[in-house]
Amino acid sequence: MDVNNQAGWLDLDYKPKLPKDLSCGIGIVGAGAIVQACHLPAYRMGGLNIIGIYDVDRDKAEAIARQFGIPHVFDTVERMLEHPDITIIDIAIPAKFQPSIVEKAAAAGKNVLCQKPLGESYEDALHIVKSCERFRVKGAVNQQMRWSPGIRASRTITERGWIGMPTQASIQVNIFTDWSQWPWITQIERLELMYHSIHYMDSIRSVFGTPEYIYADGSKFPGQVSRGETRSMIFMKFPGECRGLIHDNHNNIAGQDDWYATFRFEGTEGIIKGTNGALYNYPDGREDTLQFLSQRIDPGYWFSPKLEGRWFPHAFLGTMGELMRAIEEGREAENSVQDNLLTLQMLFASYRSIEENRPVRLDEIGS
Ligand SMILES: NC(=O)c1ccc[n+]([C@@H]2O[C@H](COP(=O)([O-])OP(=O)(O)OC[C@H]3O[C@@H](n4cnc5c(N)ncnc54)[C@H](O)[C@@H]3O)[C@@H](O)[C@H]2O)c1
Repeated sequence: MDVNNQAGWLDLDYKPKLPKDLSCGIGIVGAGAIVQACHLPAYRMGGLNIIGIYDVDRDKAEAIARQFGIPHVFDTVERMLEHPDITIIDIAIPAKFQPSIVEKAAAAGKNVLCQKPLGESYEDALHIVKSCERFRVKGAVNQQMRWSPGIRASRTITERGWIGMPTQASIQVNIFTDWSQWPWITQIERLELMYHSIHYMDSIRSVFGTPEYIYADGSKFPGQVSRGETRSMIFMKFPGECRGLIHDNHNNIAGQDDWYATFRFEGTEGIIKGTNGALYNYPDGREDTLQFLSQRIDPGYWFSPKLEGRWFPHAFLGTMGELMRAIEEGREAENSVQDNLLTLQMLFASYRSIEENRPVRLDEIGS
């Protein structure tokens, strides 16, 4: 038997899951780059039922509708919300516009898949949570890196106890990102943590749970075009002896040959290590890699299962699929807006830590 030939033999259970009934209608708000590159390609792979799309820029919505064969282009959000077959509103516009769209959608009885960051402030995110609770609809967040193959497989391995007691996690990224491809992002004061490392915080949370303290630093690169931070170091202290680290630099001056994007989860009896393929050649990317050692299975053997799928676009089926399953099964989604508040506590504790140059307890945020 070839022990490295699977995920079949090891069954790491990392692929996005879909509901039994795929007919649930979806309306999309926003016809920008991420919808074109990831949402719609992933939904097409999953055979999901896209009813219509709306964007303030109608030409963009029409172009995407043509490309993906979407039946309706709506003039306003209100017209979209009137459509009886739409059950989920999938939002992909800048975060500051999100609370008002969620409020309207929830009032119309529609479930929502929100973009990350759920809010550019904790108050905005709370407003979204309260809108969903008030109108008893399900809200989830498109924080989809936790469904990227390497991170999801790491979660399975950790949940099965194969690395023993968790001791340390790290995500380290050193690449070059041309932020000017998103002009609005270059103008915001809070950049890297708010729009990028938020994925790493959520991913580490999904594998090791929620830390108690954050100590973070964010900095710029001399001469950079963006106003916000483009380099960050985020240190996490979990209850007990477990620790976490995110070290992320988007200003690598060498070529792609020098780039790296790695993750590592360690425990008392095992180690998981891998690469996040999406960042080696964004947005095309390549497959994640994963290796793990478990003294509980074999003290001297590094398993190297080959993972299928990528963060972009496959993991987008993870977030939407989980919301659809939660609706079908009448339960909260793993990526619920309520759960995402803990990721946002990590995010806003990080910014407070940067501003006040001190470790910040997560429960200082929002209390
Ligand atoms: N989940 C992820 O991994 C991920 C990745 C990239 C971007 N995003 C998020 O997705 C959102 C969109 O990103 P993008 O890269 O597609 O940006 P983009 O600039 O390419 O597209 C944004 C679109 O939103 C439209 N828009 C703006 N305000 C609107 C409103 N009030 N109503 C309707 N349409 C409106 C714009 O006309 C534009 O077409 C951002 O919040 C971004 O943070 C998430």
